[in-house]
Amino acid sequence: MKISIIGAGNVGATCANDIINLNLADELVLLDVKEGITEGKALDLWQTSSIRQFETYVRGVTEDYAATKGSDVVVITAGLPRKPGMSRDDLIEINAGIVQHATREIIKYSPDAKIIIVSNPLDVMTYAAHMVANGKPPAEVFGMAGILDAARYKAFIAQELNVSPISVHAILMGGHGDTMVPLPRYTTISSVPVTELLSKEKLDAIIERTKFGGGELVKLMGTSAWYAPGAAAAQMVSAIVKNSRRLFPVSAYLQGEYGISDIYLGVPVILGRNGIQQIIELDLNDEEMALVSQSAKAVRDLTDILKTKVK
Ligand code: NAI
Ligand code: 2OP
Repeated sequence: MKISIIGAGNVGATCANDIINLNLADELVLLDVKEGITEGKALDLWQTSSIRQFETYVRGVTEDYAATKGSDVVVITAGLPRKPGMSRDDLIEINAGIVQHATREIIKYSPDAKIIIVSNPLDVMTYAAHMVANGKPPAEVFGMAGILDAARYKAFIAQELNVSPISVHAILMGGHGDTMVPLPRYTTISSVPVTELLSKEKLDAIIERTKFGGGELVKLMGTSAWYAPGAAAAQMVSAIVKNSRRLFPVSAYLQGEYGISDIYLGVPVILGRNGIQQIIELDLNDEEMALVSQSAKAVRDLTDILKTKVK
């Protein structure tokens, strides 16, 4: 197995660190435009191999896509992160150019790679990649956000209930933005409905905090988060490499599912060797469906902006 990560910044390097420690591949290539720092980060990571006991060779390159040739999975984290006062949407034009260039180059050298987009605004950048994917099936081009957003939601619930985060199970849907839709009806503490353990008031407060979870971290750190995003992308890589068919919320290209078409949106999917093996259509009630439709509209509006900016 060969894995490549485009963008060796905070999220890319963290994701690389998580992936090598999962011992998933023979080789991991880190690619960035920053000469020296990329090769240096790769060397530093590779030198942890005997300490951490992994065998994935880590190689850093500057804009040399030929080095990614034959990758099974590629994670694109290249782009600008959000700065204070900047919305994810401000990033559209500049990051679309970066993501589309990376996608074209990846497909040139690794036509069968499963491509995971991380760059923001997430659902729109995933669409930008799909636009230049040259007929590659949408099941092989998808975005990471739902695992991260669900992880934040689960962490807040675990903290409030003083239970292990491992026993919190939850799914959320929608775009990676303020309109995301955590789903209390599909949230349990080891099969016990969360609504039996938390008041509506407390749960509503957690849902609000989750929706603005990325912004909370940007305010604290002056840039966006990387530990949880890197770990979330690595979990997707693991599901693909191991063909584990785990059910995750993933930004997927919709073609009529949930009555929505021609946008990427966070939905539950089964992830395995072929990428998205299946999109799961939950039996949402009217209130849940209204929230998902509202989120889909927000993503569609941004996708329309993208379409006016890039070809
Ligand atoms: P960063 O600034 O630390 O790293 C980005 C890297 O991309 C830099 O090293 C930069 O040199 C590189 N880059 C820029 N143009 C490039 C190109 N043409 N080719 C290759 N590399 C290029 O930013 P960070 O924190 O790693 O975030 C990366 C992206 O991920 C941002 O767009 C951010 O908003 C997004 N993000 C998405 C999340 C999600 O849930 N989907 C969560 C966290 C961040
Ligand atoms: C996050 O949610 C900003 O998308 C980034 O942390």
